[in-house]
Amino acid sequence: MCGIVGYIGPRDATPIILNGLKRLEYRGYDSAGVAILENGHIEIRRDAGKLNRLFEIVQNNPLSGKLGIGHTRWATHGEPNQRNAHPHIGATGNVVVVHNGIVENYLELRDELVFEGVHLNSETDSEIIVHLIEKFLSAGNDLLSASRKAFELLKGHHGIVVISSDEPDKIIASRIGNAGGVVIGFGEDEMLLASDMPAILDHTRRIAFLESHQIAVVTRQGAEIQTLEGKKIGYAIDTIAWDPVAAEKGEYRHFMQKEIHEQVRSVTDTISGRVDFEFGKILLPDLNLTDEFANQIEKIIIIACGTASYAAMVGKVLIESIARIPVEVDVASEFRYRDPIINERTVVMAISQSGETADTLAAMNEGKKRGATLWSIVNVIGSQAMRIADGFISMQAGPEIGVASTKAYTAPLVDQYMLAILLADLRGTITPSERSDLVSQLRRLPELVDQVLEREDDVRVIAEAIKDTQNCIYLGRGINMPTAYEGALKLKEISYIHAEGYPGGEMKHGPIALFDQDMPVVVIATQDQWYEKMISQIEQTKARGAPVIAVATDGDELIPPLADHIIWVPPTPWMLSPVITVIPLQILAYHIAALRGLDVDQPRNLAKSVTVE
Ligand code: AGP
Repeated sequence: MCGIVGYIGPRDATPIILNGLKRLEYRGYDSAGVAILENGHIEIRRDAGKLNRLFEIVQNNPLSGKLGIGHTRWATHGEPNQRNAHPHIGATGNVVVVHNGIVENYLELRDELVFEGVHLNSETDSEIIVHLIEKFLSAGNDLLSASRKAFELLKGHHGIVVISSDEPDKIIASRIGNAGGVVIGFGEDEMLLASDMPAILDHTRRIAFLESHQIAVVTRQGAEIQTLEGKKIGYAIDTIAWDPVAAEKGEYRHFMQKEIHEQVRSVTDTISGRVDFEFGKILLPDLNLTDEFANQIEKIIIIACGTASYAAMVGKVLIESIARIPVEVDVASEFRYRDPIINERTVVMAISQSGETADTLAAMNEGKKRGATLWSIVNVIGSQAMRIADGFISMQAGPEIGVASTKAYTAPLVDQYMLAILLADLRGTITPSERSDLVSQLRRLPELVDQVLEREDDVRVIAEAIKDTQNCIYLGRGINMPTAYEGALKLKEISYIHAEGYPGGEMKHGPIALFDQDMPVVVIATQDQWYEKMISQIEQTKARGAPVIAVATDGDELIPPLADHIIWVPPTPWMLSPVITVIPLQILAYHIAALRGLDVDQPRNLAKSVTVE
């Protein structure tokens, strides 16, 4: 989850790199630094803290040049401080490195370097990379060969960028394994590098993606990409449609609020190009799904982390209900430990907004190793989870900057609904008229999303009423059981209130012992096949004196006399209701956190993309 930006060209690299790092703040970090080649030697500015600190340091002690690299660090080895901040410089003072990932064999490599007389300046694993490069440079290698030899020694997943004052016409970059990506930006007589696209979209939208075990030599004129073994390879340059401004907050206070309100657009976009409303058909061409394979599938295992794992739980209900294919859901970090039963008729499907979550990528690789077909539902184009899959569905939700996932939760719900229809259609599990009916239900979904978003102020009133609570329970049942989990996660991760989601039926098996006047209980009680059970849940909760916040369907008459607060949502087909019921819970969490004056977009201890295991 570290941020990397590099520049080589005719302009001053310093502001380009610093502003690029600001675009990556959402990745979460605790120190930052920049190295610039100035008048033939390398100047470094770096410190613990946020980028404002680095901007202040650079203002007080300016540096300027046409080649440079910058970094925001999320500490894994060594506490966040000036010495451990990147860039790291070698003993000669001619080579600097920024790194994303963990050198899993760094102790062994460090001991060898120390034995050879190298003096280490930090407690980081990353610093040894620059010393390894210098070791091979001193043996007569050029920067590319020395870097390659150094990288070949590293175990783990890495994104690495290197510059040297001895070879000032180039930047070396490499991606090894599943660490945060390395993207190459093609400008006018200038080139940029970054760990993620938003850092460079202000300057170019022509982007190439480094794949695992690749190394690039980037000069002002362009880039040459090789395998780590040195074989030159061709590559595509994509033109990214994302507008840099789209990644800005617009008129909203926080990215999260903006992205909550973008869900009319993102739900529309995730449907667009995939639904033929005239003939009631679903089209998912990037999945590379053949009729033959669709009919061979015996099981789908969905793997994901956090919010994405709750989307997977909804997907299980949808795919089993519509396509009648058995679905298992695994938290990605646990998947490999259960010795999963997989064969060539198994699909392992990852859901990941960033497409770079290390646990999810590791689980994908586990599935591939066991012979599964890999699918992924991802938001970031070019991400590893997209590239290593046999087929994918792009969420098409646009950049999600706020650490708390919102539109990247509702988009995969819709994507899995469409996938279920496609699979059922190919397997003959539904008739053409049933298929058309399911497809037609998508038509009104964006409008229903808009309706529930327009009720934000009503939810804000409830947020004000409960903003000081220390605990909260969320209850849901059936297809909205995952909605309870996701609603609780939203609240806990941005407001730091202890919140738990539970299947409604579980309340009497323990949690009800917690219910009293200090324990607000959010109950999802929309008018569906679980409605009566949830009404009784509300009654049992009230009997213990706990305040009830009910998510209810417009016009409901049973709930108003029972609940302390009601969040009204429009009537929605039950299979699509999780798209609607979760939005007010996103809004509730957002306003509670904002009212508590917290850093909504970058909550403490969290990162947007967890690229370490
Ligand atoms: C959700 O709000 C969190 N940001 C976190 O749980 C996130 O969903 C999880 O880390 C998975 O991220 P991914 O979708 O990028 O793989």
